[in-house]
Amino acid sequence: MDIPELIESEDQLDAVMSTPSSALIEMMKSLDGDIMILGIGGKMGITLGIEAVRACKAAGVEKNVIGVSRFSDSAVSDKLTAAGLQCISCDLLDRFSVDRLPQVPNIVYMAGRKFGTDGGEAMTWASNTVIPANVVHHFSASRIVAFSTGNIYPLVAVTSDGALETTPPAPIGDYAQSCLGRERVFTWGSLENDTPLLLFRLNYAVDLRYGVLFDIGTKVFNGQAVDLDTGYFNCIWQGDANTQALLSLAHCKSPPTILNITGPETVSVRLVAETFAGIFGKPAELAGAENATAFLSNSEAATGLFGGPTVSLQRLIEWTAHWIKIGGASLGKPTHFEVRNGNY
Ligand SMILES: NC(=O)c1ccc[n+]([C@@H]2O[C@H](COP(=O)([O-])OP(=O)(O)OC[C@H]3O[C@@H](n4cnc5c(N)ncnc54)[C@H](OP(=O)(O)O)[C@@H]3O)[C@@H](O)[C@H]2O)c1
Repeated sequence: MDIPELIESEDQLDAVMSTPSSALIEMMKSLDGDIMILGIGGKMGITLGIEAVRACKAAGVEKNVIGVSRFSDSAVSDKLTAAGLQCISCDLLDRFSVDRLPQVPNIVYMAGRKFGTDGGEAMTWASNTVIPANVVHHFSASRIVAFSTGNIYPLVAVTSDGALETTPPAPIGDYAQSCLGRERVFTWGSLENDTPLLLFRLNYAVDLRYGVLFDIGTKVFNGQAVDLDTGYFNCIWQGDANTQALLSLAHCKSPPTILNITGPETVSVRLVAETFAGIFGKPAELAGAENATAFLSNSEAATGLFGGPTVSLQRLIEWTAHWIKIGGASLGKPTHFEVRNGNY
């Protein structure tokens, strides 16, 4: 894939992010049946869906790629339809509506709820456990890649290599606990019905319109303090995360496969802030001090299957800095990566 020096517009950003890798194009040649993406209407689903369509086209295979969401924003379904997806509007919390969805052999599950959990705990638990129950029941004959999060792990030492897939979960707070609930419900369905499943434990996808790098870069650009309490994190270019999610369809098993999905490095908030400061030509205001622990995952298993990310951390910082300088669009959705007590 051609990686541009800089990204100048949302159209270019979406085009780069939804470019299928050659491995994904090859996989589409052997993957049987259509693909359905549940909860497609969020930050990642749109480009993931478009990438799937582009991969099928490049592979020369006929597949329906179907996006399911409530489509609270109708512009999203218009964009997906224009890109060649079929869209079905559905509230996945309603099991009767889920039961009316067409049977499709390949499911990518992306629905979830994080922000608003503080004070809205019941809705978060329902979204993150009841929807999986509806889905794993209706799609018991499909293979399912279920998005999850590295937040199900405990905080680990920043000097460690990060939590492994075998590290016992110890989620902090209602959001992370409900995400472990999501995994447990999917796993139960997989074991009951022999449904091939892959739990896709993602740590921080980076787009230019949101993400940890955008959050840190924006603070440095605006002269706001960057909090160092959570001094380290992992992240991965959203295009690579999306590609790996689609490639994961070929690795679903029962009992489920579990994969940590993130970049290879433990990234220092201080170093990232100082790199942005160097690019912007202004000082980084740093507050607090690094704790000895952070939410960190080890992605060596995924790297073994898919290879490393195609976009380096340095390139991501340069893209993000340029995006901030040119006033590029923001989703207005801070990641709150600095939260350590699990309250979102
Ligand atoms: N982005 C990250 O860095 C990151 C990190 C770790 C884990 N994850 C996980 O990865 C998944 C995808 O991430 P994301 O950032 O794209 O999430 P997101 O922005 O929250 O998108 C999820 C989408 O699911 C849809 N949805 C929610 N409830 C629904 C319902 N009842 N019925 C139908 N659709 C529903 C919503 O779209 P509509 O309003 O159209 O229904 C929502 O925008 C999420 O499960 C998230 O927990 C993401």
